[in-house]
Amino acid sequence: MVEKSATRGRFVTFEGGEGVGKSTQVRRLARILVERGLRVVTTREPGGSEGGEQVRQLLVRGEPGRWDAISETLLLLAARRDHWTRLIDPNLREGAWVISDRFTDSTLIYQGIGRGVDRSVLDQLHHITLGKVAPDLTIVLDLPVHQGLGRTRVRNRGSSIDEDRFERMGLDFHERLRTGFRELAVHEPERIKTVDATNDADTVASTVISIVNARFQRELSS
Ligand code: TMP
Repeated sequence: MVEKSATRGRFVTFEGGEGVGKSTQVRRLARILVERGLRVVTTREPGGSEGGEQVRQLLVRGEPGRWDAISETLLLLAARRDHWTRLIDPNLREGAWVISDRFTDSTLIYQGIGRGVDRSVLDQLHHITLGKVAPDLTIVLDLPVHQGLGRTRVRNRGSSIDEDRFERMGLDFHERLRTGFRELAVHEPERIKTVDATNDADTVASTVISIVNARFQRELSS
């Protein structure tokens, strides 16, 4: 388990399908926590560390079939171990709060539900990669698939970055991901909270902060 000393920071992750607004909400939550005097590090997966960002380029570009499901999973976990050992864990140890745009739950859903990798294989690989690490709180942003993919299409049109390998995996794939994320929260209701992302960014941000306040009452009052 992630050690829970008084000085260790807290680890919050945002999850969900494509175009649900995670990066906006990561920034909003970080700003609020910084205003409260906390040291906050924001990051993302795949990526976050130098090595993680290099592996990201292999994963998010090119044809959907570029990697088979197991190769894809191993790349993601190589990136995650680098990210955890070089960025997330050292910052938590120093008392910073770390907020990550995606983490382990994305692998359970994208590679497990989406690409059909067995849950037992994912659990073993997770154990080898990180041991018993888990976020303290995970917010799943939930949005109908057509709305999310619509937002990413608009975003991609205005950008020269072609990081859309997963976005092109088909509507059925993305519908299964959405169902998968919703079910995750049912199985782990303490850690995972689902937020309706059809609302505007301000409303979503205030829902997120009330969840954070409730979950970390003790830490945030001291
Ligand atoms: P992003 O678009 O949210 O930055 O994420 C890049 C893509 O990587 C996104 O389409 C989801 C995918 N992904 C996985 O398939 N498995 C994972 O474990 C992670 C972290 C991301």
